[in-house]
Amino acid sequence: MGKVKKKIALIFGITGQDGSYLAEILLKKNYIIHGVKRRSSSANTERIDHLFDSLNFTNKNFYIHYGDISDGTSTLNIINKIKPDEIYNLAAQSHVRVSFDIPEYTADITALGALRILEAIKILKLKKTKYYQASSSEMYGLVKKRKSLNEKIHFHPRSIYGVSKVFAYHTAVHYREAYKIFACNGILFNHESPRRGPTFVTKKIVQGLVRIKNGQQKKLSLGNLYAIRDWGHAKDYAISMWKILQYKKPEDWVIATNKEYTVKKFVTMVAKKLEISLKWKGKGLNEKAIDTHTGKIIIDVNSKHFRPSEVDFLKGDFSKAKKLLKWKPALSTDELIDDMIDFEISNN
Ligand code: NAP
Ligand code: GDD
Repeated sequence: MGKVKKKIALIFGITGQDGSYLAEILLKKNYIIHGVKRRSSSANTERIDHLFDSLNFTNKNFYIHYGDISDGTSTLNIINKIKPDEIYNLAAQSHVRVSFDIPEYTADITALGALRILEAIKILKLKKTKYYQASSSEMYGLVKKRKSLNEKIHFHPRSIYGVSKVFAYHTAVHYREAYKIFACNGILFNHESPRRGPTFVTKKIVQGLVRIKNGQQKKLSLGNLYAIRDWGHAKDYAISMWKILQYKKPEDWVIATNKEYTVKKFVTMVAKKLEISLKWKGKGLNEKAIDTHTGKIIIDVNSKHFRPSEVDFLKGDFSKAKKLLKWKPALSTDELIDDMIDFEISNN
């Protein structure tokens, strides 16, 4: 019996939260993984170092290439060299707040980056290469009714990050329709993990409260406490990426937990697990939380963490993915918090 040819996946954004989980999942599925990493002055492979075969670089199923999706030529060259079965585009300037400060850069990476990859697939006539676009619930932006959002709800983005993701979303749909490329969008609602970047709100809250508990930090400053998010675990969302590319047709899918929490509720849940007793006082920019054991203010609100326009409500209806992909989140927000706290405690 002949050997089954291993599938080859190319991951843009492999050094990020989702890229690292996806690489782990695909390695377990016997893929050969190629990842693209951009050059940086200090190490940015912390999340994937364990996959390099203990840094001996002898893992024959795992390769890293220098590249950058702002660079169309190198992007095309990498794709041409590897000719992957599956391309996952997880690369982005992914911070919404930061996109207000660097809008042009955000559009170049988050919007045009997707176009560069799809154009390379088209130019190289890679008929069998499937493309996954990490689209975002941020695309919904200003929602009219506070109900679960599905694949049919129209987009009204509230940041250049959101606008860029809408561009990338429609570019994937367009290349599917015009050039018959197997291009799919996962419309991902917020997903977190111990590997989440430290300036996203969940990681900031867990890290901050663990440090406050340990006496390593005095206070945690936050922005809008009343934004509502649907927070899942990144491990589950990485599984959905693979499932989406295995479906018989290229389509677009909401990936979410269909549960809603305010930022304040998330703070309360983390504090409770850490046995920090909070008493909230004040309103708006004067809102604060006091540690009832010490009487000290440990959380306050700072206007610098607000955005010029906010996405107030996000909750996703993932029934299409549940029915057709047999995907559903294995981990609840509560279990996500446990995982994040455990990691923070053992790595502090
Ligand atoms: P992340 O941790 O910020 O990872 C982003 C990745 O993109 C990193 O590997 C980063 O490299 C890479 N990257 C940035 N600029 C690049 C460039 N010019 N060329 C090549 N690579 C570049 O984000 P994540 O949470 O894993 O999210 C993965 C994707 O899903 C992103 O596209 C994000 O916008 C999207 N998304 C995320 C969520 C969420 O809640 N996490 C929800 C919806 C959609 P460095 O490591 O060098 O920075
Ligand atoms: N980052 C941050 N820092 N957010 C804060 C803070 C703070 O100190 N205080 C309150 N928030 C509020 C934000 O205003 C927002 O409403 C919510 O917490 C979540 O913020 P982030 O964790 O930064 O995530 P995001 O929802 O803006 O964006 C994430 O999810 C998107 C999907 O909806 C990112 O992962 C995006 O890449 C992703 O597309």
